[in-house]
Amino acid sequence: MQVIKYVFQPHGDERGQLVALEEDKDIPFAIKRVYYMYDTVEGVVRGKHAHKSLEQILVCIHGSCKILLDDGKEKKIVPLEKPYEGLYVANNMWREMFDFSDDAVLMVLASDFYNEEDYIRDYNAFLSYTKV
Ligand code: TYD
Repeated sequence: MQVIKYVFQPHGDERGQLVALEEDKDIPFAIKRVYYMYDTVEGVVRGKHAHKSLEQILVCIHGSCKILLDDGKEKKIVPLEKPYEGLYVANNMWREMFDFSDDAVLMVLASDFYNEEDYIRDYNAFLSYTKV
């Protein structure tokens, strides 16, 4: 499995840092939705699903967390701890988010609107789906 982690270019000067993300340039798709999670309770595992079509970029813009990626054959754990790093999560990829620091803010840029029908929430169903 290839892990695609983007390193975005911060525009830093004496005032601090700024990262700008533009669709189809810094982000490899048109961004239709942005959401973020924060105040995540210690020990919680979020995600635990795959998407049939949705593509996403995960950016831990504050604090840190870990992402488990599972393509049905192989699993990889990717730490996200810098506000200028983005993890690409393709469709047909099981993901779990965990080990959130108290101050973690995990922002997700998504290629489409929220659509429950695009979710695969059952792990065995995911394994069958990826084998088709
Ligand atoms: P959920 O899918 O459980 O989050 P995750 O799988 O990332 O841990 O989403 C939590 C709630 O938020 C659920 O009621 C659905 C809602 N939600 C939206 O309304 N829009 C969205 O874009 C997302 C991601 C979730």
